[in-house]
Amino acid sequence: MGVNFIKISVVYFVIGVILGYYMSISNAYHLTGVHAHINLLGWTSMTLAGIIYALFPKTESSILGKIHFWLHNIGLPLMMIGLFLLLQGNSSLEFLIPIGATIVVVAVIIFAINLFLNLKKEAISVK
Ligand code: HEM
Ligand code: HEM
Repeated sequence: MGVNFIKISVVYFVIGVILGYYMSISNAYHLTGVHAHINLLGWTSMTLAGIIYALFPKTESSILGKIHFWLHNIGLPLMMIGLFLLLQGNSSLEFLIPIGATIVVVAVIIFAINLFLNLKKEAISVK
């Protein structure tokens, strides 16, 4: 999951900076909340998680790592789609925001449990 997390985090990074760029050139500052969370929950958090999984193989081989990956990557897009539309004045998918946010919070709690259970001092794997 380490490599998968790092690869998908770069996708969020590209989307996040393109959105920031669009906001800068078109004065669309109302989208800051989407931009900030795509960059921070997408790029930054997922890259950090990916590096931790890659450095500590016992956290990576746990099923909790897979569950974290999928919940994080289902919840964040749902939350961002709902928030993007809401901030554009369309509340039809607003219900996706709390659903997505709950899924992301559960994903992060599972990540924390995985680290407490499985993060041990071990040789860094060289792949
Ligand atoms: C080319 C890259 C980027 C551009 C053009 C850009 C542009 C912007 C713009 C226009 C705003 C709104 C500022 C405002 O409302 O006053 C903003 C806010 C923000 N950006 Fe970016 N951004 C970029 C990359 C990033 C990255 C890589 C991150 C995080 C890893 C990031 C994190 C944030 C955060 C957290 C805010 C909200 C700041 C606040 O609450 O005041 N941005 N960005
Ligand atoms: C499920 C997880 C999260 C939820 C539901 C959440 C929710 C929120 C909410 C409701 C706001 C206020 C938005 C506003 O006033 O416009 C906010 C702002 C912010 N959050 Fe989060 N957040 C989450 C995770 C994070 C994480 C992990 C980070 C950093 C790594 C972060 C960084 C920020 C920043 C920088 C702002 C200010 C951005 C702005 O000016 O709009 N958030 N968040």
